[in-house]
Amino acid sequence: MPRFRPHITAMKAYHPPLEGRTSTADLLLDFNERSAPLPQPILDTLAEWCRAGRTQVYPEYSGLLPCIAAYTGVPESHLLFGNGSDQLIDCIFRAVVEPGQGVALPAPSFAMYAQCAQLAGARIEEYDMLAADPCAALRAALERPGVVLALVSQPNNPTGHLLNTEWLIQEIRRHPDIWFIVDEAYYEFSRETLLDRLRPLPANLVVLRTFSKVFGLAALRIGYLAADTSMVEQLLKIRGPYDVNQLAGQAAALVLRHREVVLRYAAEVMDHCKPRVEEALRKKKIAFLPSRANYLLLPEGEARLGALLRERGLRARSMTHPRLTGALRISIGGKETLAQLLEALRKAE
Ligand SMILES: Cc1ncc(COP(=O)(O)O)c(C=O)c1O
Repeated sequence: MPRFRPHITAMKAYHPPLEGRTSTADLLLDFNERSAPLPQPILDTLAEWCRAGRTQVYPEYSGLLPCIAAYTGVPESHLLFGNGSDQLIDCIFRAVVEPGQGVALPAPSFAMYAQCAQLAGARIEEYDMLAADPCAALRAALERPGVVLALVSQPNNPTGHLLNTEWLIQEIRRHPDIWFIVDEAYYEFSRETLLDRLRPLPANLVVLRTFSKVFGLAALRIGYLAADTSMVEQLLKIRGPYDVNQLAGQAAALVLRHREVVLRYAAEVMDHCKPRVEEALRKKKIAFLPSRANYLLLPEGEARLGALLRERGLRARSMTHPRLTGALRISIGGKETLAQLLEALRKAE
C-alpha cells in the first residue's frame, strides 16, 4: 500500500458545526456572517448572470481588481483574490514556511490558521489572546528561535480583541525577517486597518480581507489580500487561474460598486444592535469580553444561555477550544434579528 505523508495522517480534519444550518427556521448567530440578505437588486443581477447561459465558459475577472483597488486604495499589482481568505492563508503558508520552521499563532483563534500551519509542517508557537496583555504574548513569541511567520487576527476571532495598531506597526518594522499576516476579516466592523496607515506596504506584511462577512458572500467563497508585489507574484504560482468561480467574481465586484448601501449593515450592527445586546447582557450580569467585531464571547455563556437559545431556534457557537470550555460566541446580526435575541436574553436566569 502506498503511504500518506506522516504530517497529514497526524492531522485532524476541521469540521465546523454546519449540521442543520440550511434550515431557514433558525436564526444563525454562529458563524459571524451577515444576517440580512444582500439588497434585492444585487441578487437580481446575480440571478440574471446565471440565466445568461455563460456557466460553460471559464472565468475571467477583469472587472474585479479595479473595484478592490478603488475600495482599498491599494494598487492592483499589490492585490490578489482567492477562494475565500482560507485559501489565501494556505497559499501563503505554502509559499513561505519550510517544514519544521516556527509560526506564531494566536490562541484561542480561528481554526484555519493551525490547519494551514500543520499542512505546511510548521512548528506552532502559540501566543495567548486571553492573557492580560496579548501584545506582550505576541512579542515573546516573535523572539522564539526559528519563528518565520506571525499571524495576527485583527480583531481576533473569537475573543474580539484588537491589538494596538501603532504597536503592531512598530513590531512589523522591528522584525523585517518575519512575515506578518494580518487577518482583517472583520475590518468593516472594527473600522481599523493597516492599509490606511502603511503606504507602501512593508515587504514583510500581508493584509487579508474577506467578502464572507459584511459583504454577505460567504456561500460564494471569495477573499483577497494586499501585499508587496513580490508576494503576489509568488502566490500567483500557487493559486490556480480559475480557483475563484465566476459568479463569486461578479458578485464581489457588484457589492463593491454598491458598497455604500451594503456597508450600512456594519453601522447598524456596531452602532445600534451590539450596544443593545451588551446592555441586555449587563442587566443579566452575564459576562462578555469587550469586542471590536460583530460577535461577543461569553465565557460562561453555555451554562447561562446555551439551552435557552437553542430552544428558541437561535444558533450561537459553543466553543470547543480547551481554554474556552463552557463559552459561547454570539454573532450580532442586523435589526431584523435583534428583537428575537433580546427577547431570549430577557428570559435568562
Ligand atoms: C478571522 C477569520 N478569518 C478568515 C475567515 C474566513 O474567511 P473566508 O470565508 O473568506 O475563508 C473567518 C471566518 O469565520 C474568520 O473568522
